[in-house]
Parts: sequence; structure tokens; C-alpha cells
Amino acid sequence: MIRRFAVILLLLPALYSQAVPETALTPSQIEEFLLKAKEKGRKGAKKGITGTSRVTLSDGTLTHDASVQTIDEKKAKFETQMGTEFNFQDSFQLNIAAYRLGKLLGLESMIPMSVQRSFDGKPASYTWWIDNVQMDEVDRLKKKIEAPDKDKWSRQYLIMKVFDQLIYNMDRNATNMLYDKDWKLWMIDHGRAFRLHAALQNKKALEKCDTQLLARLKALKESDVKE
Ligand SMILES: Nc1ncnc2c1ncn2[C@@H]1O[C@H](COP(=O)(O)OP(=O)(O)O)[C@@H](O)[C@H]1O
Ligand SMILES: [Mg+2]
Repeated sequence: MIRRFAVILLLLPALYSQAVPETALTPSQIEEFLLKAKEKGRKGAKKGITGTSRVTLSDGTLTHDASVQTIDEKKAKFETQMGTEFNFQDSFQLNIAAYRLGKLLGLESMIPMSVQRSFDGKPASYTWWIDNVQMDEVDRLKKKIEAPDKDKWSRQYLIMKVFDQLIYNMDRNATNMLYDKDWKLWMIDHGRAFRLHAALQNKKALEKCDTQLLARLKALKESDVKE
């Protein structure tokens, strides 16, 4: 009896940590996990072109995947499907910058956390893998599916449009917009953002702005952004 009780006591921490749902993890717990959890396996991401890897991480209790990018390129001139781009950049660092800027604006529930960590000796971004992705925007458009809650969907869509102007994102293609099973929109892959042009990319995208986002934008301090 005593021995059985002792076994239960010993198992309690493990049972408890398994019982904490991943959605209840705090940002600092996710950050810690992405920075320190051990690699258990890897594969290439199915869609995409820059060689993103999908890496399985585990800290002993939690097992979760991360999307890992090592790309870090700058080119004076680059030919894309959209035309020639001058001062082209594609960098893992910009994934981290977009996440951090999004966080300052209260958008951490739309951009997965991204941290810097070494991957095969190269600096890389490790980004929390969004589980339960039901489709990306490519599939939604192709299958002509509408979100069940149109208001919620358009609110998220509008936030994304404004955020893309803020970060001058060159690559919000439809594979970089994911919908989870609750129809939450996730913005990923910001390596080709933060262009330095003085003019907006698409002024029209700013005709409407979510009130909460507008308030956060107005309250944003230069010192916080610099940090
Ligand atoms: N954090 C993530 N969660 C879920 N799926 C992801 C994540 N990151 C990437 N993917 C999937 O992998 C694909 C390629 O990754 P992405 O970061 O967009 O790289 P690329 O620069 O090659 O487009 C994405 O279109 C998406 O389907
Ligand atoms: Mg992509």
C-alpha cells in the first residue's frame, strides 16, 4: 500500500505536466522549449521553396515540432515571380523580428513564436509549429471554402493586411497564411519583409484598421521597437 502510494507520488509530476495543455503554455515557456528542447527528428516542410525544415523537439515531457529556417541572403537585384526586386533580403532573422513586433502589438496569437537557435552550426529561426492546420489560404481559395464565422475571419484578415503594410512584407503569398481547426488565421514566413522603402506597398490596405490594433499602433514606443 505504502509502496503504491509512493509510486503515485513519484508519477505525479509527470502526470501533471502531461495534463497541462499546450495551449496553456506561457510565451516564456514556449520560448524556453524552442531554445532548449532536444532534437528528435527532422523532415523538409511540404510546401515552400527556401528549404524550411520541420524539426521535432522534446524536453522529456512535451514533444512539439518547430519550423526551422537558416536562410540569410541579401542581393542587390533579385528576380521573383512578381518582377525584379532591388535590395532583396530573405533572412531567418526577420521571422524573429516579425514575431517580436507582432507581440508588441498584441498579435502573438496570430504569429507563432520564433527564436534564434543554432541548427547544424548555423544560426536559424526556430518557430513553433502550428498543429491542427486544416488548410492554408491556397486550399481555401481553390476549394472556395468560407470560414463559418465571417466576421471573425475578416477581422483577422484585416489585421494581417495592416500588419503586412507595417512590416512591408513582400511574401504574403497564400501558402504563408494558415488556418487552424478553429479557423484561427496564422501568419508565417516573414523572411522577405522589412523593406526600407519610404512609400507604402499598398495604401488601400490601410483603408480600414481594427480598433484594438490601431490603439496598439498609436501606443507603440520607438524605444520598444528599437529594443
Ligand atoms: N510554424 C509552422 N506551422 C505550420 N506549418 C508551417 C510552419 N512553418 C511552415 N509551415 C509549412 O511549411 C511551408 C513552408 O514553410 P515556409 O516557412 O513558408 O518556407 P518557404 O520560405 O519555403 O516558403 C508553409 O507554407 C507551411 O505549409
Ligand atoms: Mg512560405
